[in-house]
Amino acid sequence: MEITQLIRPNILELESYHSARESIQEGTLLDANENPYDVEWEGVKLNRYPDPRQRRLREALARYLEIESDQVLAGVGSDEVLDWILKVFCQPGRDQIAIAEPTYGMYQVMADIFGISSFRFQLDRRFQFRFEPFLASVPSEVKVLFLCSPNNPTGDLLAREEILQVARQWGKIVVVDEAYIEFSQEPSLVTELDTVPNLILLRTLSKAFGRAGIRLGYGVSSPEIVAEFMKVKAPYNLSALIMDKGCGVMGEPDQCLAQVREIRQERERVAESLRGMEQIEEVFPSQANFLLFRCPEASLVHRQLLKKGIIVRDRSSLKNLDNCIRVSIGTPRENEFFLGELQRVLENAL
Ligand SMILES: Cc1ncc(COP(=O)(O)O)c(C=O)c1O
Repeated sequence: MEITQLIRPNILELESYHSARESIQEGTLLDANENPYDVEWEGVKLNRYPDPRQRRLREALARYLEIESDQVLAGVGSDEVLDWILKVFCQPGRDQIAIAEPTYGMYQVMADIFGISSFRFQLDRRFQFRFEPFLASVPSEVKVLFLCSPNNPTGDLLAREEILQVARQWGKIVVVDEAYIEFSQEPSLVTELDTVPNLILLRTLSKAFGRAGIRLGYGVSSPEIVAEFMKVKAPYNLSALIMDKGCGVMGEPDQCLAQVREIRQERERVAESLRGMEQIEEVFPSQANFLLFRCPEASLVHRQLLKKGIIVRDRSSLKNLDNCIRVSIGTPRENEFFLGELQRVLENAL
């Protein structure tokens, strides 16, 4: 199926807003009713509107990903990219999305906000996606499939070949949220984009790059899809300050990625310790910066840890995750504290 056939007709025909700073950013700027007197903060000009096309940032991201800059567009966290995806492809009341569960809750929340119904199906027993049962059961109204790899909250990667097969055979839009990909041993699907133009990847600076506070995420796809995102995004969605910070981080990715190696080692150490605790029934394999484990009375354990000032996520309410707790990997000292207190809670409370 052609991508243009999947785009909502009103978006395909949309004459998007032409903002003042779209093409001209230098000269005697008297076109945007800005204040002409310079205000600078950390070398960034604040009295002028920021670049709506995010040229410098997109080039920095493209260099990091080894792609072209017209294949990437940044938003206020990758959650903003979800908003563009639904706007571009899904007509409320008519089109649907598919969500492979258990997974990150935002896909469903966004669908609810837009009034778009979702086809929710379960990953298999090992929390893996299989393309054949999906293709056999997916309703024809579904236009976009949401997958998350490594998946939150289960932690493991989804099999690459199953994702590629569904993208190739189904022919509609396949979104893979790769928020945690830098923590995994497998490379991103970004290398597949040239042959799978209906794939959209969600990436973020909130996890491996340690910049959750600046709110910067991005979508990566074919230039055709990115051009549609550009049409529906707010013209000045990112501030000049945030784009400047983002360029700084992406200019030196190795600095952050050294920390990632440490977090991965800690993940393995914490997993080993959890597996050594006799009350813990299961520690799920993880390629992310968190671990999911199952223990008796997870809600009670969660509350007891809370009393000690340790905040973990009780995921027991999700289907197939009864008595499951998700814990983020902290600093070695935080991990030690968590493991010691968990051991005590498990011995005393159960
Ligand atoms: C799978 C997944 N995607 C996206 C996000 C959020 O990313 P951002 O901070 O870029 O909006 C999270 C946050 O926990 C997540 O778990």
